[in-house]
Amino acid sequence: MTLSSQELRQKFLDFFRSKGHAIIPSASLIPDNDPSVLFNTAGMQPLVPYLLGEPHPLGRRLANVQKCLRTDDIDKVGDTVHLTFFEMLGNWSLGDYFQEEAIAWSWEFLTDKQWLGLPADHLAASVFAGDADAPFDRRSYELWQQMGLPEKRLAKLGQENNWWGLASHVGPCGPDTEIFYWTGPEPVPDIFEPANPFWVEIWNNVFMAYNEQPDGTFIPLKQRNVDTGLGLERVLAVLNHEPDIYVSDLFQPAIHYLEKISGRLYSSETRTFRIIADHMRASAFLLADEKAVTPSNKDQGYVLRRLIRRAVRLVYNWSIPPADILSGVIEQIIATMGEAYPELVRQHDFIIAEVKKEIIKFNYTLGRGLKEFERLVGHHHFISGTDAFMLYQSYGFPWEMTKELAQERGLAVDEAGFQEEMKKHQELSRTAAAGKFKGGLADNSLATTRLHTAAHLLLQALRQVLGDGVYQRGSNITPERLRFDFSYPQKLTPEEIKQVEDIVNEQIALDLPVTCEEMSLEEARQTGAMGIFDAKYGAKVKVYTIGGDQPFSREICGGPHVEHTKELGHFRIIKEESSSAGVRRIKAILED
Ligand code: ALA
Repeated sequence: MTLSSQELRQKFLDFFRSKGHAIIPSASLIPDNDPSVLFNTAGMQPLVPYLLGEPHPLGRRLANVQKCLRTDDIDKVGDTVHLTFFEMLGNWSLGDYFQEEAIAWSWEFLTDKQWLGLPADHLAASVFAGDADAPFDRRSYELWQQMGLPEKRLAKLGQENNWWGLASHVGPCGPDTEIFYWTGPEPVPDIFEPANPFWVEIWNNVFMAYNEQPDGTFIPLKQRNVDTGLGLERVLAVLNHEPDIYVSDLFQPAIHYLEKISGRLYSSETRTFRIIADHMRASAFLLADEKAVTPSNKDQGYVLRRLIRRAVRLVYNWSIPPADILSGVIEQIIATMGEAYPELVRQHDFIIAEVKKEIIKFNYTLGRGLKEFERLVGHHHFISGTDAFMLYQSYGFPWEMTKELAQERGLAVDEAGFQEEMKKHQELSRTAAAGKFKGGLADNSLATTRLHTAAHLLLQALRQVLGDGVYQRGSNITPERLRFDFSYPQKLTPEEIKQVEDIVNEQIALDLPVTCEEMSLEEARQTGAMGIFDAKYGAKVKVYTIGGDQPFSREICGGPHVEHTKELGHFRIIKEESSSAGVRRIKAILED
């Protein structure tokens, strides 16, 4: 008989309720007060204050199902067991029970017919072998033997495998014992080899007795805690004898949908379908979160952007628009998981709208970016840092995507060079955003000021004609002419140049007001101003707006500018040429 995901959640919670645990709700995917990590990666993370000794209002025995997201394994997603978003079943003792009860209850829950009823002869465990920081976990080893695990099914491993603490290496931690299940062909081998991939880790019990200090030393915690984590998706696959985690009720609707819409089969597109299903599920949960994450170039927003863009690239060549395919997958995920996570249903429209918006934004430049990538590949044996940065800046390719594309072609890519470009760009933007950078103005004459305002109109006109991948890369203005560099990979056609000129001249003819406001970077971001937002928090910037209620242009800029666009006269582009790889240069003048 097949067990559903909901039945498994329920059984776990019922079991620990029967052992005196209070059931607590899942916390947000985004940690509170922990700037060292982007996401909650384990059920214990929101509980750190209580593991350190603060009393929990619901007592000393807790259990829950926690939403988690891990990105360190993102490259492994596509195999049979890895996920970014997953659900962790967990139980905790806050200075209450310790190893005896934890191990006995894990065993009971896994093997007792009333609960999961897994065959004991398919189980094995690893324990901490001991080192200079902490001794061999003899107690766990003995307890497993008491449960009935023979020595051949027990492994002693070092800190890299059997020690658990936060990624920051500060705070509660301790030796752990991990439980494995044999998923390979029968008979089960006598000897437990943790490295054999048929032995799948299903449950980790951490005995948190230490508090790691920032200097790397371990001091005993005030209280001895238990922290456990059991991956719902993995256990479900094991229980139902499924060959991979995507065959469960959690993913099947999404996989079937992908088969139907693409006319392709899971059996031939296995990896692609798995990645799409995983990434769309993680995206839906990030958007639905109480601390809603939206796509951006920073932190959690960047991870979300990466997840969506990666999925778009995978379906880009299918003959159906990516926004249709991927929003369809999300519909399936919401239908499947909405009962357990009502936020998905509540935020349904927001999730779909945001995902579509990001897809459309990216899809627009992806085709041209892929062409540019092909061009680069045709010319070079490796991707330079400057090229990778150009793909990022002009075509929205997350760094990791360029790396992946290069790997697929067996090309090297210069990561250090990319980071260097990124740093240069950020420094430049910081200076510009702080208003210290005069934007390459030669002087404050009226002629220069007029051309400076024309530069703002030009940037917006270029974006309207050539797309959102266009960003200003530099400018130099003298009383005679405007020189303007921007990201764009190819020569503009005479028609495009004419369109840009026409748009600028239309805005001049409208005699739009030019206004300036000072605000924080955060406020500037909210107004949708162009510019880069990574300057120091709290910095004030000037934002110049051209146009009234629905402005034509809004940019962070130090000024100065004219007050009305009619003061500009007639705008004419006199030259369009290459400036450097992926950057074009326009020279323009104003005529009376
Ligand atoms: N915190 C432990 C883990 O995530 C249970 O493996």
